[in-house]
Amino acid sequence: MNRRPFVAGNWKMNLQASTALQLTQEVVRTTGRHRTVDVGIIPSHPFLAAAGHKLEGTRLQLGAQDLHSEDGGAFTGAVSGPQLRSCGVRFVLVGHSERRHVFGDDERIVAAKVEAGLRAGLDVMLCLGETEAERDAGETQGILEQQLSSATWKLQGEDWSRLTLAYEPVWAIGTGRTASPEQAEQAHAWARNWVQNHVSETVAGALRILYGGSVKPANAAELMAREGVDGALVGGASLKADSFAAIVSAAAGERS
Ligand code: PGA
Repeated sequence: MNRRPFVAGNWKMNLQASTALQLTQEVVRTTGRHRTVDVGIIPSHPFLAAAGHKLEGTRLQLGAQDLHSEDGGAFTGAVSGPQLRSCGVRFVLVGHSERRHVFGDDERIVAAKVEAGLRAGLDVMLCLGETEAERDAGETQGILEQQLSSATWKLQGEDWSRLTLAYEPVWAIGTGRTASPEQAEQAHAWARNWVQNHVSETVAGALRILYGGSVKPANAAELMAREGVDGALVGGASLKADSFAAIVSAAAGERS
């Protein structure tokens, strides 16, 4: 099955209004020509609406880093799926390891956020990944299965077409240590196999699974050349337009 590569830049809690808009414009300029790769940027919430305006008429997709599981109401400081949607947001990250480990998003919350995103008409990019201790203990496969099953058990068939997975080993995020292409390929195969066994072969065949964790121009091509690695969720290297553009080019199969 031919899956269209997807490269998304997770800007995390970085940049200011002016630099976020400047980067948005540079990403449009440096990646807008690609027709064979889906490209997304994921700025902080305050910059979403303005970034959305800059993306109008382009093929770039706007993503958000988080949402609340409720659609609205007395939840001071939180942002809902319908609010994101009204700012031009197309997809939302759920279950990022920083949300799980720093903010305490447990499996119940992750599942509720997946549902909330889909209910609001957003695509959901569900992040999964083991810690270093879990990998060392040989628990990687079990952790991925646990995270997948707890986050998706309520999904109906058609919901799956709006879900993307991002395999992000926690030990590789922001550390400069990338999973080897073999490790990434194996984890993606486990996740896809789980979906094949628990949902369907068709869903598993169409599902995009991105790799994330210290992806940079120097390692992007070899990671994305692997069977079942359908793109990248990029943190640090997405904050510079030229390195992000190089990763998008690698996803398009261009040599740099
Ligand atoms: P990194 O972050 O590329 O800086 O490791 C990836 C992510 O957290 O999505």
